Amino acid sequence: MSELKHVKVVQRDGISWVYLNRPEKKNAMNPRLHEEMDATLIALENDTDTKVVIIAGAGGNFSAGQDLKEFFRGLEGDAAERKRIQGLANSWRWHRLYMYSKPTICMVDGFCAGGAFMQLLASDFVVTAEDAVYSLSEVNWGIIPGALVAKVVSDSILYRHALYYACLGEPFDGKEAVRVGFANIAVPKDELEAKTEELAKKLMAKSPQVLRATKQAMRMVRTMDIQQAGDYLGQVSLALKASDPEKSYDAGLQQFLDKKSFRPFFEPFKLGTMLPPAKKEG
Ligand code: COA
Repeated sequence: MSELKHVKVVQRDGISWVYLNRPEKKNAMNPRLHEEMDATLIALENDTDTKVVIIAGAGGNFSAGQDLKEFFRGLEGDAAERKRIQGLANSWRWHRLYMYSKPTICMVDGFCAGGAFMQLLASDFVVTAEDAVYSLSEVNWGIIPGALVAKVVSDSILYRHALYYACLGEPFDGKEAVRVGFANIAVPKDELEAKTEELAKKLMAKSPQVLRATKQAMRMVRTMDIQQAGDYLGQVSLALKASDPEKSYDAGLQQFLDKKSFRPFFEPFKLGTMLPPAKKEG
């Protein structure tokens, strides 16, 4: 993807702010935007300067969902292209984000509709403006919450709330989004960016390897039974200890038990204190 037209990336202090950037269409997601978001997320996952990715909407709205003109009507006559774009749309909005190797936050302001619930629920955390307006509006214009929306909404929040909002299509605000489990934190609009950045900085203070293993383990065990989860988590713990370049486990124990320099309830251990010995020359 050469030049970005419907996505804007702003990088500062280890955080990549990724904006859906069609403000004149309330950031409705058209085929090009899906292509650009998929390519952008791939690039940022491999970008060493990016520690946390924040997804937001340009111009005061998160996203009005799928573009009804260009995504739905526009792709109706072209089955092959429709399949390709649907694949890309599901890729970044769910598969790629769900197992992303870096922490991800959605920052929600203004409208958040329909298909935008996918990236909302695939990301690790959501910070919302109290007066943001959410709607699973599909039922109001003749379709079901398709792609994976019905599935991820049913899986993510209490079933009664999921059914209510999917079947009624009623709008709700950011405070309600926190109450039912769509979002973590609701703040007044003028505090939204600062609160989101504060969360990103908290995440950056932790060991990236341990954080990645933790979030991916939390996700993977959701569909396992107890036996599978126990076995899987044991293996992940061993793999993490063996592969962690910062030796986080040893560093944490040393700082707590020997140096008495931190308390894990209140802060992360200090990074970079126990790097592995340098490889010998020759
Ligand atoms: N698809 C395509 N275009 C959209 C869109 C969508 N999902 N949402 C908004 N737009 C377009 C409008 O058609 C309008 O385009 P125009 O200026 O060429 O007429 C422009 O964005 C601004 O939208 P408008 O409706 O005038 O803004 P508003 O502030 O009055 O209302 C919404 C905003 C989001 C409440 C309203 O646009 C809406 O209901 N959109 C559909 C949301 C939806 O149901 N999405 C689910 C899709 S899965």
